[in-house]
Amino acid sequence: MIWLILVTLLDKSSSSIWFKDYFLIPPATCGLIPPGHLHPFGYHKQPLEQMDVIPNAISADEFDKIYIQPEGHRPGIFRGLQKQSKATLYWDDKYLKENFGEYKVLTEIKHELRQEFGKRLNTLSKFLEEYNTTNQYVVTVLPDEMRREVLMPSFLQCGTYSHNLLELNLWMGSGDTASQVHYDADHNVHCLIAGKKSFFMIHPDQYKKLYMERLEHTGSNYCPDINQNKVDMLEDSSVADVDYQWDVLHPGDCIFIPAQYSHQVRSYGRSISVTILWDPTVQFDTDSMGDCEPNNTSSIADHNVVWNYKLEDIFLDVGYATPHVMRKEMVGVWEQWKEKISDLEGYDSTGWTYCQFVSLMFDMKRWSLPECKYTRNWVALIAYGLDTNKDLHISPTELSDSSDLLMKAVSHFVDAPNLNDEMYDFCKKEFFYIPPEVVSPEEMEEIKTVGSAEKWMKQKGYEASKNFSEMFSDFLEYIHDAIHGENEGDD
Ligand SMILES: *[C@@H]1O[C@H](CO)[C@@H](O)[C@H](O)[C@H]1NC(C)=O
Ligand SMILES: *[C@@H]1O[C@H](CO)[C@@H](O)[C@H](O)[C@H]1NC(C)=O
Ligand SMILES: *[C@@H]1O[C@H](CO)[C@@H](O)[C@H](O)[C@H]1NC(C)=O
Ligand SMILES: *[C@@H]1O[C@H](CO)[C@@H](O)[C@H](O)[C@H]1NC(C)=O
Repeated sequence: MIWLILVTLLDKSSSSIWFKDYFLIPPATCGLIPPGHLHPFGYHKQPLEQMDVIPNAISADEFDKIYIQPEGHRPGIFRGLQKQSKATLYWDDKYLKENFGEYKVLTEIKHELRQEFGKRLNTLSKFLEEYNTTNQYVVTVLPDEMRREVLMPSFLQCGTYSHNLLELNLWMGSGDTASQVHYDADHNVHCLIAGKKSFFMIHPDQYKKLYMERLEHTGSNYCPDINQNKVDMLEDSSVADVDYQWDVLHPGDCIFIPAQYSHQVRSYGRSISVTILWDPTVQFDTDSMGDCEPNNTSSIADHNVVWNYKLEDIFLDVGYATPHVMRKEMVGVWEQWKEKISDLEGYDSTGWTYCQFVSLMFDMKRWSLPECKYTRNWVALIAYGLDTNKDLHISPTELSDSSDLLMKAVSHFVDAPNLNDEMYDFCKKEFFYIPPEVVSPEEMEEIKTVGSAEKWMKQKGYEASKNFSEMFSDFLEYIHDAIHGENEGDD
């Protein structure tokens, strides 16, 4: 469930192109140049009717009925929902630096051309010193302390969705950016804390005209072929027919973006957003409301979210797999494995051996990570944790029955972004965050005494690092393509 957010710089000259083009085109050809040609996406047509303005105090079951169920399934705006939040009232650069400057944040670079992309780990303080001049922007798991200053929409305080909150993310930049037209895997409430952003919202029935597909498998996708800053309406003539809704968010406003609903976002000048993501695969249960009473002062810190800042989740990219998606993916890999490999030497119907599991995990990694022995140790420990009956195999049943914590550990490995030096140092220091279900605190002490997980496992008679990868490299390549399709490497 990698988010496919591709942020580019806005072409600053674009607002004047319209004027210039108009006078450069000889009258006779006027009718042949489609509206919006070589302009940013959205110039081709007037937007459809305004999006709904959703009452800020809407209840969870009402919200589900109107905006999530298939017959509704549409975006909407919450005006001023965060207006009284401390975030909206106080988050200027000075306040952020004084109160949260020490926190580490992940940053990316906005590009003219989006061929390369790189993530960095920075303190918020350092970022604030540099962001006006370096094209960096922050996309990161929202530090826990900052959560106290952001309000939780009332419909996410009660009922099924409130128990399936996935991520809280922070976005900040100096602006003048345009994302690609894309959709994400999760439901999202995007709250603007500072600045100004406009949202172009595109219903799935328009996707064909944008050469986009609605993917079952990965849950997110983007529109690969269109230059959204300068649409070539002659080449991509179907774009001229794309219907969309449009609105502008001001500080305190939020927008609901349904899972798999395409959108393009533009920012103008310094902006800060907080996004609240929840699981689109759970069905809302009307009995889940109980006697829960939402209130206007509940902060997002008052609610449980799958991914937090503290458990080193900072080292994850935003938009990673949730535990149950990860579990499904792993069981799926097992099924494919079984089919492909059953007549080969090394196949064992009781499950993966630890070393097979380690190789597979490296193959599933969506970002390149230095393959230091610490990461091997770490994955071997996950294998140990998954192997509940300690028969040295990870069986499909053990995968299906695995805990959320273990699947988080798997996601930690598979979805950790490429951080180069910092990441390397970190993975040297600890084997990432090891949940107690992987090894007990007592075992962790033993491992520390022995010096490495690998040695410890050898002492216990577990072979975690036999040479395996060559024999199955073809197969692994197959799995790799099956899981990632052709978009691997894009973010
Ligand atoms: C960066 O720009 C913002 C306004 O967009 C300003 O408030 C802030 O002081 C600037 N920071 C630096 C370090 O110049
Ligand atoms: C929140 O406050 C507004 C008035 O400011 C009120 O209309 C609304 O009912 C309140 N909502 C809740 C959930 O208390
Ligand atoms: C509002 O809800 C939060 C938890 O969601 C709770 O801690 C707080 O006491 C509530 N405030 C009021 C006034 O009910
Ligand atoms: C694994 O096998 C390959 C090819 O035979 C070999 O080059 C490599 O050194 C082996 N690795 C280990 C750890 O034995």
